[in-house]
This record gives sequence, structure tokens and C-alpha cells, in this order.
Amino acid sequence: MDDHMKNIIDRFCDTKELSREDLHALLNISEEDREYLSLRAREKSISVFGKKIYLRGLIEISCYCKNDCYYCGIRRSNKNAERYRLIPEEIMSCVDMGHELGFRTFVLQGGEDVWYTDDIICSIVESIKKKYADSAVTLSLGEKSYESYKRFYDSGADRYLLRHETADKAHYSMLHPKDMSLDNRKECLYNLKKIGYQVGCGIMVGSPYQSEDTIYEDIAFMRDLQPHMIGIGPFIHHKDTPFANFENGSIHTTLVLLSILRIMFEKVLLPATTALGTADPMGREKGILAGANVLMPNLSPVSVRKKYSLYDNKICTGEEAAECRSCLENRIRSIGYEVDNGRGDHPDIERS
Ligand code: 5AD
Ligand code: FES
Repeated sequence: MDDHMKNIIDRFCDTKELSREDLHALLNISEEDREYLSLRAREKSISVFGKKIYLRGLIEISCYCKNDCYYCGIRRSNKNAERYRLIPEEIMSCVDMGHELGFRTFVLQGGEDVWYTDDIICSIVESIKKKYADSAVTLSLGEKSYESYKRFYDSGADRYLLRHETADKAHYSMLHPKDMSLDNRKECLYNLKKIGYQVGCGIMVGSPYQSEDTIYEDIAFMRDLQPHMIGIGPFIHHKDTPFANFENGSIHTTLVLLSILRIMFEKVLLPATTALGTADPMGREKGILAGANVLMPNLSPVSVRKKYSLYDNKICTGEEAAECRSCLENRIRSIGYEVDNGRGDHPDIERS
């Protein structure tokens, strides 16, 4: 391999420091040299987590959304989107099925749907925690006030996912309409941390107008936030959005960034995302081999899966939860890893 590149990677692994020039070099790395970067990242992941992969059961509770993000298929202006929302009883039956299948983390994700009042969310979280004291609840329901986040936490929610999407102000405004702001997004993330959640941020790789500079800012922001989880996957265009004609993000770059993040944040919970699995049939396996340690199979009822369409051609919209579970177990085993059946908290967290 290229000696210069090997030096950059080795120094980065030792110091965790990454200059703009180093980032530029890594983002332009050859496929062959990326193998070495992956190997170094994978070693870090194995040193913290062993060859174990955590599973999260993802329940997509609603595709109604009051926001209008330009990249997203469930944006409110998309008149072609078929909308659905799950009522609390339906959510609970997904959790029941997931628990039966062995999941010990349930992620409730949805568009920003005002039908779910804070009271409703709190009561769903409480019922899950009461019935399944051995399980963690992760929420991914968008931007809320400090008070709402605090109420959800006091009801028993353990973790919260809110991708920041980009830490560059100008870039943020190219991805979102004027009524959304990066400042508010960041404030939400800091509030979540202050309350005590395990917090996840993240970006889409190759989103329209992304550049090496915006990625550099993403990394600087993550260093400051110190998230427990980082969700990244390739941008994949959706035909009914303003970004329908933009190119999809690259798998290669997504894998490079997964490795960079693993090396920089050794203990972070890092999923190989569904978007990565959609962009490449072996994407999730490649993600794990590049340093990811989490997979998030879908537990939503098959009848609604196609409707939760953030981007085109999403995988696993026809499979039952049990099928995805065993499919993933096989995929994990095929690359020499195993499923970890625990809650999978961040190694630094011990919640009483
Ligand atoms: N391609 C890839 N990821 C997307 N998301 C939304 N739209 C797309 C898309 N077109 C991601 C966003 C959001 C998460 C739930 O899904 O980063 O935070
Ligand atoms: Fe859903 Fe493989 S993970 S079918």
C-alpha cells in the first residue's frame, strides 16, 4: 500500500487527531488502502466490543411529519406519500413480538407527528418499561422542547437519536426550509445530553452540497458533543422530493467515514444502517468490517413498511420481523461475528 497513506492512518490511530489535510487524504483514499483503514477501525471495535453486534428493533411509528426537509420522502409536501400512524396498542404488539424474538432495545422512530402528545409518548414508554424491565427504549421523534425531552426521560426512555444532518450552517439551510435551524438542532442535542440520555447524532453521506469542509465541521461538532451513538448512511434520493435528481452518496465514502468515526470515538455505538444495506446488498456486512457494531432491523408491521419511505428502494419492506432477525444473524455469522443479546448500552453508561 501507499506508505504516505499508511503513515497518516497509523498516526491517526495513535493520536486520534485529524487535520483538514489528513481528512482530505482519507476521503480520497484508494479502495486498496481503505482495506487497511477498515482493518485498523475493526481492531478498535473488537478491542471494545469483541466480535459482537448489538441489535435494535426499529418501530416506525408514524410517517406523518410537520417538517419539509428537502431530502426526505415523508416531508409534508409530498402529496404522494401514503400516511399511517400506529396507535399505542399496535406499537406494543411490535414490542411484544420483538421481545419474543430476543430484542432488548426498541427504537420508536417517526416523523414529527403532532398526534402523539407528550402524554401519549410518556404512556407508551412507561408501558414498555413496565412490561419489559430488561429492555432499553430509544426515541427518535425529532425536535422537542427541553421539558418534553425531560418528561420522556422521566417516563423511562434511555436513549434519543436525532441526526444533526450537517454541522455547517449554510449547508443546513440548503437541506431544510427556513423554519428549521441548525442552532435549534444543536440545542436539542445538548439538552438531551444534559438530561442524561445516551444521545445519537449523525449525517447522511453524500447529501446534496456536502463537501470536505462540511464533513470537517461535522467531525468538530461531534468532538464537542461527544455522542454515545452516531448514525451515518449514504444519502439516497427519493423520487418525490426536490432532491430527486441528485446522485446517491457513495458506499466507499460511507465506509471511510464509519472507520474514521470508530477510530476517533472508540466506544461509540455505530450502526451499519439500512440505507447502507439499500445502497449495496453487502453494505451492512461491509459496514461492520469497517468498524460498525450495531444493526437496526425493522419491527414495524409489514403492512406499513413501504409507507415509511424516506428514500427509494428501501430493503426489507416485505419481510416479517422474524425473517430479518434470522437473515441478520446469518449475515453476522458469515463474517465471523455474533449477535449480542444484551441491551447494548454505551460502555460508559450504567443506568440504575
Ligand atoms: N437518504 C438517506 N437517509 C435519509 N434520511 C432521511 N432522508 C434520507 C434519504 N433520502 C435520514 C436522515 C434522518 C434519518 C431518520 O433518515 O438523516 O435523520
Ligand atoms: Fe431484512 Fe435481511 S435483514 S431480510
